[in-house]
Formats: sequence, C-alpha cells, structure tokens
Amino acid sequence: MSPQDAGHETLSNLLHEERQFDPPTDLAASANVTRATYEQAAADFEGFWAEQAKRLSWGTEPTQTLDWSGAPFAKWYADGTLNAAYNALDRHVEAGNGDRVAFFFEGEPGDTREITYAQLTDEVRQAANALLELGVKTGDRVAIYLPMIPEAVVAMLACARIGAPHTVVFGGFSADALASRITDCGVEVVITADGGYRRGSPAALKPAVDEALKSCPDVRNVLVIRRTGQETAMTEGRDLWWHEYVGKQSTEHTPETFPAEHPLYIMYTSGSTGKPKGILHTTGGYLVGTAYTHWASFDLKPETDVFWTAADIGWVTGHSYLVYAPLVNGATSIMYEGTPDTPHKGRWWEIIEKYRVTILYCAPTAIRTFMKWGSDIPDGFDLSSLRVLGSVGEPINPEAYVWYRHFIGGDETPVIDTWWQTETGMHMIAPMPGVTAGKPGAAMTPVPGVAVEVVDMDGNPVGNGEGGYLVVTKPWPAMLRTIWGDDQRYVDTYWSRYDGMYFAGDGAKKDEDGDIWLLGRVDDVMNVSGHRMSTTEIESALVSHPKVAEAAVVGAADETTGQAIVAFVILRADAGDGGPDVVKELRDHVAKEISPIAKPRQIMVVEELPKTRSGKIMRRLLRDIAENRELGDVTTLTDSSVMNLIKENLAGQP
Ligand code: WTA
Repeated sequence: MSPQDAGHETLSNLLHEERQFDPPTDLAASANVTRATYEQAAADFEGFWAEQAKRLSWGTEPTQTLDWSGAPFAKWYADGTLNAAYNALDRHVEAGNGDRVAFFFEGEPGDTREITYAQLTDEVRQAANALLELGVKTGDRVAIYLPMIPEAVVAMLACARIGAPHTVVFGGFSADALASRITDCGVEVVITADGGYRRGSPAALKPAVDEALKSCPDVRNVLVIRRTGQETAMTEGRDLWWHEYVGKQSTEHTPETFPAEHPLYIMYTSGSTGKPKGILHTTGGYLVGTAYTHWASFDLKPETDVFWTAADIGWVTGHSYLVYAPLVNGATSIMYEGTPDTPHKGRWWEIIEKYRVTILYCAPTAIRTFMKWGSDIPDGFDLSSLRVLGSVGEPINPEAYVWYRHFIGGDETPVIDTWWQTETGMHMIAPMPGVTAGKPGAAMTPVPGVAVEVVDMDGNPVGNGEGGYLVVTKPWPAMLRTIWGDDQRYVDTYWSRYDGMYFAGDGAKKDEDGDIWLLGRVDDVMNVSGHRMSTTEIESALVSHPKVAEAAVVGAADETTGQAIVAFVILRADAGDGGPDVVKELRDHVAKEISPIAKPRQIMVVEELPKTRSGKIMRRLLRDIAENRELGDVTTLTDSSVMNLIKENLAGQP
C-alpha cells in the first residue's frame, strides 16, 4: 500500500454506525474488570503487571517485572522460575479442585469424554515420563501434528512440563508444511495420530508424517495416538503407539521449575508471502498475559463458567485460550473435534445447550456462515446459558456483530471483539464486558495494562476521527520474544518501522470518541483514485444487504484509478439466484451505504470463497482472479477445488 494514513477517508463512512450496547447491569455489578482497573494499570504499569504475576504459582517469585534494557528483546519476570504444566494442572489438584472438569470433549462422531483436572494431570505426567524415556531433554523441540483431541492438550503440556518447547502444526497442513517447520526448528520427536474425523469420515494423518519425514532425517521417534483405528503403517524402531508407550508410564512426575524466559513454544504464522515465521513465546510473561486477559476480557468465573473457544489447537487462539489460559485459570472448557455442520448445521448450538456453555469465543467467518444458514437453526436450541460472546481473527462486520448478539446472545450478551496476533500472544484491544458500551464493529480500547496507538507515517499519533497504523507503544508480558533463529528478522519486521514501537501491520482508526476500529491488514487497504478505502468497510456494506451472506473485497490493479474494487459475494440461501439485477442492486447499495466512489467495479457472485485453514479469506487468490492472472500457491487453502469452482462459476458471468 502507499505509505499514507490508512483509512483516513473511510472513517466517517464506517462510523455512521451509531448503535451502542451498554454492559448488562448484573454483569457489570460483579465484573472482574471495572473502571478502577484501567486507572490502576495506567497509574503504575509495572506495578500492575507485577500484581498480575500473582495469578501464577512460582518456584521462585520474581522480584523484577520488566527488563527492557535489551530492547526490542524483552524479559519479563526474569528472575522468577516456574513450571507451566504445574500451573495449568497440579496446583488445581493440590488446591482440592481435582474433580473439576477441565474439558468436556465432543468428538465429531458423537463420542464424548469428561476429563477432570486430576485425570489430565495424570495423563500429562505419563506423557512427560514417556518423552523423557525417549531422550527428550529440556530445550529440545517437539512437533505436535494432531486433530482436535484431548491428547493434543496432553502432548502440549507434557512438553511444557519437561521444558521442551512444542511446535504445534495444524492438522490440516500438508506434509510439506510439516516438514518445513520440523526442519526450521530442528525437531527430533513428533507426536501425531492415525487420523481424525472430518465431516463424518475418518481422515488419515499419519501418512502425511511419513511423507514429511522423508526429508527430515533427524526425527528419531514418532508417537502415534489411536483416534480413528484406521490401518496405519508403523516404521519399526521409529514409530510407537501412544496408548502402549505412554499408557505404561508412571503417573508420578515431579515438575522441575524453569526460568520465566524459558521457551514455551514456537508457532509458525502462515504469512501471506515468504518463509513462515516461527514466533517464539516464553513461559512466565506468556502465562501471566494470557491468564489475565482470559479472566478480564471474558469476565471469567472459573467455578461456574463453561467456556468454549471454538478454534483449532493448531492456531494461537487455541494455544492461548483453549489450552494455556483456561487451564491456568482453572476453568472448565469445551473441546470440539469437528466442523460446525456435522452431522447437522445446529451442532454448535446443540453443544451449547447440552453443556450450558456460558462463554463462546469464535471467528467472524463462522458467524457469517451461521448467518448464511439462517437464524432458524440456532433458534431451535436453548442458548440462554450464554453470557459473553467473543470474536477473534478479523474485523467483525457490524452486521455480523449485531446478528451474533441478537440471535446467539438473545440481545443481552456483550460481544467482545478481541484484536491480537500470534505475535502478541494475548488480547491487546478489546472491550471489557462489565465496563465498555460496545459499538458493533469496533475493538474499542486497549485492555488494561496494554498501550497502543494509531499513528501516521511519521509515527505521530493521529487525532480522533483519523486513521493510520496500529502500533503497540509499551512492551507487554505475552509478546513474542523473537522469530526462531532469526533475531534480525524480528527487529526488521516489527521494530524498524517506528522507533521504539511495535508495528502490527494493521490499519486502524480512532472514532470521535477515540475508540479503535480495525481496518484489516495495511496491505488490504485500497487506494482508488486517491481515495483510501478498506476492504473491510466495503465488505460490511455488502453484508448489510439482505441478500448477501458473505463478501470478500480486493483491490485489483486498474490503469485509470490505481486500484479498483472487486467484490466476490455469496448470496443468502433465501435470496435464490438474486435475480437478474442483483449486481446492480448491490453496487447501488454500496454507493448508498458508503459513497459512489466505493462502488465495486465488478461484483462476482460465487458459491464459495477461498479460505485458509484458519478461516481467513485468501484475498491474494481473489486478486489473481480479479486481475486475470495465473493462480498463485493454493496449498494452504482448506479446499483447493474452491478456486476451480469460482472460475467455472464466473465463466458464465459478465
Ligand atoms: C487480524 C489471530 C480485526 C489482524 C489471533 C491481525 C483482527 C491478524 C482481529 C493476526 C480483530 C485478529 N479485529 N482484525 N478482532 N483479530 N485480527 O496471527 O489483521 O492469526 O494482524 O492471530 O488477524 O492473525 P493471527
């Protein structure tokens, strides 16, 4: 994008959104976070984070909070020592909460498991003993390539317990992606499964590991969990069945404590171009930051809430808010293996009704899918247990926000739009459910203890009503420490654009009240005839039309206007084929909602959109289509046939 203030002209457009929802009175009355929390954090930044460190059980209590002397390489709680797995498990058992359910697991085929803290602790101890017997030492990396099954949590915590950083590779990734991650961080042991269930049938996983390992000679052992029971080739001397090898281990294991800055895990970010970045998170600060934000943003009451992060363990959302923070906080969580429409489109709502889920955390793309399927589906279930709804991963369109709040939240639950990244580890910008009057589409304000700014290209804060680049102006406990094996890339990517500020790569704007609206990645901001427009803004306008279920907008190179707006839309089921004039109708609608200059040059009606396995729309591929180019790399798509479908589909359109 051209380096000017992102989204400046768009501000007034998105902000004709005037709806605002006060926190529910009863929630506010007993909320974890109050206005005073913001004041405390602002008055004494380090004191605030020193206080939050008390959420953890330390071997040696830290006396130091932040060491920024080697900026941008941070140390948090550097003289403290702790064990992550002990914090997630044993201490709850020792405190008499061993019988509390840690996870209600719902397998896709309908099998269920109720796993208490005591049981999970035993399983993790066994797995830790198994890893030790396999010669895994403190500091060694272990790759985890699994479906969404409880053993994924066991594997992660077993690694953490012995100080072996894990790198979880999403089970939907290819053998190549797995191999490149194994090689990049020098993995010697892999934990996988025979397969997992996907849309009603078993899908093999182990063959991808076998394929990957052809180019990874350093991997000594593979532990294989039996999930589907499908026939699985085992390599003599290398592969071991988890149930045999881990099952025979002792449930006794005394956790060692490690320095707070000991590496906890490496998570590769998909990165739209170039080599994936291995984001390194360390132990003490990460656990403090995630445990605090989980408690704060969702108003978590661990004794009574049933919390559900509907994200895969293979992503940072799964790491922070499905595994580490909920367990450190002693919460009860749902873990669901499958897709939302298996065996029927009400599966999520059935799970919420069954377990009386109180907090749901998911991505806008899921919400828009549910909108497309129609509100009569959730209407058929009792969702009255829900009290807080969360959103993550992309800007939530006002329409999706309002639909979520209305049809899922019964018009009462706050919608907590959480802005953060793999790199930040923890929520950074989010309304607080008991304090903030939420605006549909806005992430609102930094969480207490976090300092962000929206700046112009020179790094000066923009005023209210203006747009620019999002930066973080103070270190935060769960921040990435570096890119694995590439300190220079860490400095270049995040800390070189502006002096002393973390460059997030997102465009944002402040409204008249100073509240923050995210505009998407800065590279998704378009410049059409000198007018700055965000893809998100036009997508929101399209989705606000009653015939549209989902929309993706890209800027395509255009000789006259620099960039031109090209939109791909999926119509709602009840809109039929939309009628002959649907494209005109939608263009006019965008003109009306935003401005005639925002009218897409082209609108293409499609059946599906290309998405990565984490649910992000691959705009790059849509841009290829919009610019009539050969398609780029499609290997990270959930379903690469989608692109053929779109192309076929468009062959008949003007
Ligand atoms: C985007 C996912 C708007 C943003 C936790 C960020 C969001 C990138 C939001 C990180 C949100 C995430 N509103 N945009 N609430 N949350 N993003 O690393 O562009 O998979 O930079 O982390 O997602 O994606 P990642």
